[in-house]
Amino acid sequence: NNKYIDEKNKCYKINREAALFFLNNLNNNETALQYLKRRNINKKVIKQFGLGYSLNNWDSLYNYLREKGYTQEEIEKTGLIGKKKGDNGYYDKFRNRIMFPIIDTKSRVVGFGGRVLDNSMPKYLNSQDTIVFSKGNQLYGLNLLNKYSNRKRIVLVEGYMDVISLYNNGINYGVASLGTALTESQVKLIKRYGESIYICYDSDLAGINATTKAIQLFLKEGIDPKIIMLPSGKDPDDFIKEKGIEGFEKLFNEALTHIDFKVYINKQKYDLNKAEDKIKFTRGIAQIIKELKSPIEKDVYIDKISKETNISKEAIEKEVFGKIDKVP
Ligand code: UTP
Ligand code: MN
Ligand code: MN
Ligand code: MN
Ligand code: MN
Repeated sequence: NNKYIDEKNKCYKINREAALFFLNNLNNNETALQYLKRRNINKKVIKQFGLGYSLNNWDSLYNYLREKGYTQEEIEKTGLIGKKKGDNGYYDKFRNRIMFPIIDTKSRVVGFGGRVLDNSMPKYLNSQDTIVFSKGNQLYGLNLLNKYSNRKRIVLVEGYMDVISLYNNGINYGVASLGTALTESQVKLIKRYGESIYICYDSDLAGINATTKAIQLFLKEGIDPKIIMLPSGKDPDDFIKEKGIEGFEKLFNEALTHIDFKVYINKQKYDLNKAEDKIKFTRGIAQIIKELKSPIEKDVYIDKISKETNISKEAIEKEVFGKIDKVP
């Protein structure tokens, strides 16, 4: 057990050492600095997030850490290096990438994300799971959130750059799940830090599908999330670049409830001028209204849908309150 704790501490230590190495590389690399500059990331933000750069060769980090006195086995446990095929050498997994240290609420570096500087693939590489890192249990940005603890609001976004862009513009309560679908454990974490949750994923098909799934997870944990909708194809970083932070802050007031979101999504699926579609649409929404606990909430949405579809409130009420089993 003690040995396990020692191993974990060694891992944190090497990760921190690596982050400092990446930071130093960045400060000496004009191309990487220029890339960040183009993305409106200045020195202050670099420092705040501990951003770095992994050099464009196969073993600079490995050699650096070996010189610092760490053993092959110790370095391997961080997941930063991989074993070469054939002989027993090692190679750096992150090369020629902008590095984003993932820092936990105790300020420990648990892993990294790394972005290419061009359009090559994969765009981002993330640390594999290790003894100190499990993707589904971490959130990018949570360390900063913790500093300002008890935030009223939390904005859940998709990407590293979204968190940074929000922060850069004074919104210091953004978090991102780490390149995977949001997990129950991440939802429980978020729940500890904020009262109102705003989901603001990328406005593309993947983001919209992920929003639907995230809503379900939050509702399961007793949280009623709001949804911030961005213009098609945009993410929070794109949007802020275009409309400024004033533009983004307006979106909070226009955020949708989960029912409004469902209505919005389904409206795009159906043509409400067609009788058949109108029926399907209204039945679908009625099923969701049925799940609402508050009678007032139910009434508000029944009224809204009635106006939207020109179907009488009475008919929708019957659909909602009547003993109608699952409608396909
Ligand atoms: P996006 O493709 O939306 O990237 O992926 P982004 O965050 O907007 O990045 P920029 O603005 O182009 O730099 C959203 C998130 O999904 C994860 C990353 O966490 C990313 O921030 N992702 C994406 C990966 O893990 N791997 C990938 O290849 C792409
Ligand atoms: Mn996307
Ligand atoms: Mn609700
Ligand atoms: Mn994006
Ligand atoms: Mn982006």
